[in-house]
Amino acid sequence: MAFTKKTVRDIDVDGKRILMRVDFNVPLKDGVVTDDTRVRAAIPTIQYLKEHNAGIILMSHLGRPKGDGFEPELSLRPAAEKLAELTGYDVKFIEHTYDDEAAEACADVKPGDILVLENVRFLKAEKKNAPEVAKKFASYADIFVLDAFGTAHRAQGSVVGAAEFIPAVAGFLLEKEVDTLTGIFAEPERPFVAVVGGSKVSSKIGVLDHLIDSADTLIIGGGMAYTFFLAKGYEVGKSLQEPDWIERAGEMLKKAEEKGCKILLPIDNVCADHFGEDAEGVVFDSDKIPEDMMGMDIGPKTTELYCDAVTKAATVFWNGPMGVFEIEQFAKGTEAVARAIADSDCTSIIGGGDSVAAINKFGLADKMSWISTGGGASMELVEGKALPGVEALLDA
Ligand code: 3PG
Repeated sequence: MAFTKKTVRDIDVDGKRILMRVDFNVPLKDGVVTDDTRVRAAIPTIQYLKEHNAGIILMSHLGRPKGDGFEPELSLRPAAEKLAELTGYDVKFIEHTYDDEAAEACADVKPGDILVLENVRFLKAEKKNAPEVAKKFASYADIFVLDAFGTAHRAQGSVVGAAEFIPAVAGFLLEKEVDTLTGIFAEPERPFVAVVGGSKVSSKIGVLDHLIDSADTLIIGGGMAYTFFLAKGYEVGKSLQEPDWIERAGEMLKKAEEKGCKILLPIDNVCADHFGEDAEGVVFDSDKIPEDMMGMDIGPKTTELYCDAVTKAATVFWNGPMGVFEIEQFAKGTEAVARAIADSDCTSIIGGGDSVAAINKFGLADKMSWISTGGGASMELVEGKALPGVEALLDA
């Protein structure tokens, strides 16, 4: 599917000052970036702008600060240092975002320079997209570039504000993410198999609903499967369940049947009598889960069935683990499905969040076609929602 917004390729950036919103919301430990995926993901656009003689001002949030001022553990400095380390570029950092010092530093940015501003969420007005924030950001540059896919679902000042006042275009990461994640609904190579797991039906209902419209097969795993079992009239013992969502789960099963989307639910499950590292797994068929047991992972027959389905797919979209993969004895289902996707020739698109953590844990990241850098943003896109950050950009 063609991206419908202008990108950095469509605008003259030569000699211009660019304000670029990136998503450097990275995990930190003792002031050190422990996963630099998001910093790496922003580099192609930064490189392009630098090579095209633009002056670059980068801004991002990190974590969820209170908004009452500086919080040392949420400073963007480590992310700026990581960018310098990864690119070899001279990257300046300033502990200011909205004041005169920030404005002066931005005015000093020359072609080829890179300046990183401090965490945009140290001010409450950012989250509210207050007009003064939007105007301030717009005053820093000639052009606004949004490359923060992971935050494009937030209508906040640094994401949408500047677009009201200066030309606003997408960076390469945003373009690729939107293209890839909407492409699975436009013209997926078939068979298209979607694998959705995770604990709750309630948090994935929009995703399931939209995928049923497009996928040939929808595989369901993880804690949410037990609410589907209840909809089918099975007992689920102490397994995770959402009684308020049983009816909705039943409607999804009916909708899938009407649309010709085959739904695969677990046929057996690895269960335990309690949740914990020391819990012992016992396998039960899905209609025979005892009342004192809880489902922790898909069982061996289900694993075979699911692996077979993804192996035959031309396109796979995956979001959400098949079981409690953080505990070794309950990680087998998630690992087997991840390996089957990795080993197949299919186009594999991984939605953000826990599935990315699982893939990294199993060392399979290099074998996937695309791993989204966005959690909430990728889910909203897969639900079929428009992202405010993307909407605010100039039409192509
Ligand atoms: C994310 O990590 O999903 C993005 O950076 C968005 O962060 P937020 O949920 O705090 O807005």
